Amino acid sequence: MERWAGKVAVVTGASVGIGAAIVNKLLDNGLIVVGLARRVEKIKELTDDHEAKLHGIECDVTNEENVITAFAWIKENLGSIDVLVNNAGITKESSLSEGSLDDWRSIIDVNVLGLCVCTREAVRFMRESDKTKEHLIIHVSSLAGERVPNVPGFNVYPATKKAISVLAQTLRHELAAHNNIRISTISPGLVATELMANFSSFTPEILMSLPVLFPNDVAEAVGFIMSLPSHVAVQDISLRAVSESW
Ligand SMILES: NC(=O)c1ccc[n+]([C@@H]2O[C@H](COP(=O)([O-])OP(=O)(O)OC[C@H]3O[C@@H](n4cnc5c(N)ncnc54)[C@H](OP(=O)(O)O)[C@@H]3O)[C@@H](O)[C@H]2O)c1
Repeated sequence: MERWAGKVAVVTGASVGIGAAIVNKLLDNGLIVVGLARRVEKIKELTDDHEAKLHGIECDVTNEENVITAFAWIKENLGSIDVLVNNAGITKESSLSEGSLDDWRSIIDVNVLGLCVCTREAVRFMRESDKTKEHLIIHVSSLAGERVPNVPGFNVYPATKKAISVLAQTLRHELAAHNNIRISTISPGLVATELMANFSSFTPEILMSLPVLFPNDVAEAVGFIMSLPSHVAVQDISLRAVSESW
């Protein structure tokens, strides 16, 4: 990780949960971190270390203008993007048989199209930079995209996570000529955060009675990807809590 100190990382969905843990992991390793989320005040509360180089930008990833403005600010003020972690994601309890188009669209907008817009803005910037500089794009996907657990109310969510792996591979093809931009996905099983605690079948109490990962476990996987030599491209890291059996 030492070689990343002083480099610039952008983390989407940085205000709470897995994104917040990734921000802290990157700050601990000396990176300059830009956190994007709607609740920007929560990003600013992530560290009380005045030396930490953390910038919070209010950004709804479903709003293309917000994303373009945020990346333009980064370009103008920080001069590079070395790492992008596409972590912002949502679920809504609904169903495929009775759910509303608005609910489905809102999940796809954040998990798929928001990720695409952030990736596009970062890649533009990465391509313009010195060809000898290494860059990493990490998408936070989910085991739910591979195994589709039987969670009542999951509706389009697993499909959005499957889409992320496919988008990662399509981007690898597009960027094959840029061997300094690596693309990885991380696919965790159940993680103890607000995301699933909002489901009626996963109250905080139920969640804590199940085998779960914690946000820091996913942040460690980010650190592992970054710690590998620059010729090694990690395709995907799947993580699950010991004894999580689905
Ligand atoms: N928890 C799990 O069991 C689990 C398992 C596998 C994968 N994942 C994935 O891990 C990622 C993080 O999830 P989490 O569990 O940490 O969930 P979380 O605690 O609910 O956090 C979600 C983050 O996404 C941000 N976000 C949501 N909508 C956004 C928008 N329109 N624009 C910008 N940011 C937005 C939220 O920030 P604001 O609300 O402040 O905007 C928040 O920071 C997601 O992609 C999720 O699918 C989670």
